[in-house]
Amino acid sequence: MANKAKVAIFISGRGSNMAALLYASFLPGAAYEVVLVAANDPEAEGLALASGEGISTFALSHKGMPREQHDEAMEQAARDAGADYIVLAGYMRILTDGFATRWEGRMLNIHPSLLPKYPGLDTHQRAIDAGDSHGGVSVHLVTPELDAGQVLGQMKVSIRESETADTLAERVRFAEHQLYPRVVSEYVGRENDPDFLLGKVRELALALPQTHERESHGSPGWRAGSEKSGKYFAYFNDQHHGTEHVAVLVKTGSMDELLDLVEAQPQAYFKPAYYGASGWIGVILNRPGLDWDHVADWLERSWRSVAPKSAAKLHDAADQF
Ligand code: GAR
Repeated sequence: MANKAKVAIFISGRGSNMAALLYASFLPGAAYEVVLVAANDPEAEGLALASGEGISTFALSHKGMPREQHDEAMEQAARDAGADYIVLAGYMRILTDGFATRWEGRMLNIHPSLLPKYPGLDTHQRAIDAGDSHGGVSVHLVTPELDAGQVLGQMKVSIRESETADTLAERVRFAEHQLYPRVVSEYVGRENDPDFLLGKVRELALALPQTHERESHGSPGWRAGSEKSGKYFAYFNDQHHGTEHVAVLVKTGSMDELLDLVEAQPQAYFKPAYYGASGWIGVILNRPGLDWDHVADWLERSWRSVAPKSAAKLHDAADQF
């Protein structure tokens, strides 16, 4: 598959979830590849498994180190490995707010409970003590608040008679190994899913004032101004004319600008068939680590070039607040 997302996995110990993620990444059609396994304990068992499979590893003990400094070193290792995502797999560290915020939407964690129940530690015992019929596992996005980010997937595991925390933990682990690779694949795979990308572009385009959607030659497009006299400022382009790209076409200021961008950043831009001749550039959307703020900026700029003056003025005024 083209454009596999690059994933760094952080562990603290055994690393059985890391192993499940790693071997799943070797399956045909996997949406991600593992570029690094990093641990806060140089003795973490999982490191040897990863390096045995030819994966780069990094280990740095957190002992005697300020939290911020340790986080920064781990983060740097992920960046150096070219990671688009950080996947925490039994990484038993509380992250600094800054670290979690910088990776918001690009950091996932697995937690052994059915969140929002039982964030934190001792999850299995707490579920048993509460008389719950099920324990389980959740995969969620990481935010600065512990175990509180959006849940992306869950699996229940039944609690049996005379269950102990250890016996439950063991079965939850089986469930984890099924769930985590599936959820990571689906999550990072959205970047290549035209429907997901179209939804995002639509949301951004229609958030601009006085806009509406109208199909053009079979593709979704967005216009500024009235239904009657509006002008197009963006078109959605899904692998048209033999390209692999899913893209949004927006207006540049000049042909020179268009050609310069395409030459300097061919991974990000291309000159589309037909439209390119009149200064429209293709902003490639199906690539890992795409910055949606940047797409929003392009849409706004393109919108501004055709929007009625009154709408642009109102928009500027609103921006002041
Ligand atoms: C897993 O059960 C995971 O859910 C848990 O640590 C274990 C790691 O096992 N994570 C947490 O408790 C996070 N708060 P592993 O090293 O064999 O993957």
